Amino acid sequence: MDVFKIEGGCPLSGTVEAGGAKNAALPIFAATLLTGGVCRINGVPDLTDIRFMAKILRYLGARVEQCGPHTWEVEAKDVHHQAPYELVRQMRASICLLGPLVGRLRKAEVSLPGGCVIGPRPIDLHLKGLARLGCKIDIRKGYVEVDGSGLCGDYLYLGGRHGSTVTGTANMIMAAVLAPGTTRIESAACEPEVVDLCQMLVKMGAKIEGVGSHYLKIEGVQELHGCEHTVVPDRIEAGTLLIAGAMTQSEVTVQNVIPGHMRALLDALEGAGLPFECQPDQRQITVFKQDAPLKPVEIITLPHPGFPTDLQAQMLALMAITPGLSFITERVYPNRFMHVPELLRMGAQVSMEGASAVINGGGRLYGAPVMASDLRASAALVLAGLAAEGTTWIQRIYHLDRGYEQLEIKLNRLGASVERLSQDALPSDLIEEG
Ligand code: EPZ
Repeated sequence: MDVFKIEGGCPLSGTVEAGGAKNAALPIFAATLLTGGVCRINGVPDLTDIRFMAKILRYLGARVEQCGPHTWEVEAKDVHHQAPYELVRQMRASICLLGPLVGRLRKAEVSLPGGCVIGPRPIDLHLKGLARLGCKIDIRKGYVEVDGSGLCGDYLYLGGRHGSTVTGTANMIMAAVLAPGTTRIESAACEPEVVDLCQMLVKMGAKIEGVGSHYLKIEGVQELHGCEHTVVPDRIEAGTLLIAGAMTQSEVTVQNVIPGHMRALLDALEGAGLPFECQPDQRQITVFKQDAPLKPVEIITLPHPGFPTDLQAQMLALMAITPGLSFITERVYPNRFMHVPELLRMGAQVSMEGASAVINGGGRLYGAPVMASDLRASAALVLAGLAAEGTTWIQRIYHLDRGYEQLEIKLNRLGASVERLSQDALPSDLIEEG
């Protein structure tokens, strides 16, 4: 297992490019199961989760080839409907295989995904939606078994206790595009990644109205054909890179960005007094050196267009070095604060009150040995390491590799000092027991 060794305090400068969005590419890969035609997908980030989804598609019988660093080709001519536990349990997002398998084959057998450190990750809304579309559902030996022989368009409401569901919406859309009749989805998720999936499905011949809104109308068609599609830029990686610039008081330009997908983050950064400029026509945003300390903020994470939960940890790290009291509340994953105990080890002053963090920011952060726990918490620790005084060792960075392509290389090109080393490079007093 690799570790990161980060020497803090290096100012950054220059230009960096965000990749394609992981959370768009994963359902888009699943959507290739909806046709026997060839789908060519460009702008795919080179991540462990992507390679894993490719492995699952091959297991299901599809031809899956990587034609270039960020280009894949999938031809799901003859596929079967069973996605096994040993594969699905390793990546929760595999649950978005349910919809396309039911849509194409009228049946699916997918292992129930495990929970993870950010929360229990239920799929009750996915199952409720499939039942509304005429499917019979059994939970047997840890598997969801779906009989979709009665698949038929209908009205379904996808709102849950924490708002809409992103992969739940993706699943319902992918089941409905080949379902006879009309499907109306109320309280659909409208994240840019869901929009991107819809845009690809429309290229494949799907009939979807209301794309980008919380209300979708889908006319089922007989079959879909192959297509070529480029994955939407990753707004979460772009936001992480912008915050890296802010944390090191640097001037950094992030390219391959759609500012219109990041309004909530940009609004929060503007509220903190961070100087930045958007150039939408060049698809880039530049963060400038700060001429005054940032101001504390109050943030509540919400489904899109609210503040994205996937940038909560990174924003909390920024507020840890921002003088004053900041308040961050998680309305999507109330337990998503695994980064807080690790940031405390670096000198941050954060107290938790239920799903809210109170950050008493402005003190120095100091390099320390810390542990990555989930994808975005890991990113927050990297950002804290860039701003900290001294050396930060981050263990278990395989979490980071699931959602960030060569983050250390991108940061080092900007002037950071992030070394990827093997676990045995750890100083002896840091090596985990057992
Ligand atoms: C997607 O997860 C993303 N993953 C997550 O990104 C992201 O944090 C999340 O959406 C919210 O934006 C992918 O797209 C692969 P949800 P998803 O279903 O679809 C509750 C990252 O770091 N819920 O929108 O699994 C759920 O518990 C990852 O890139 C139900 O109650 O999230 C949560 O509180 C982490 N019942 C809320 O809804 C359900 O049936 C949002 O979950 C489904 C969800």
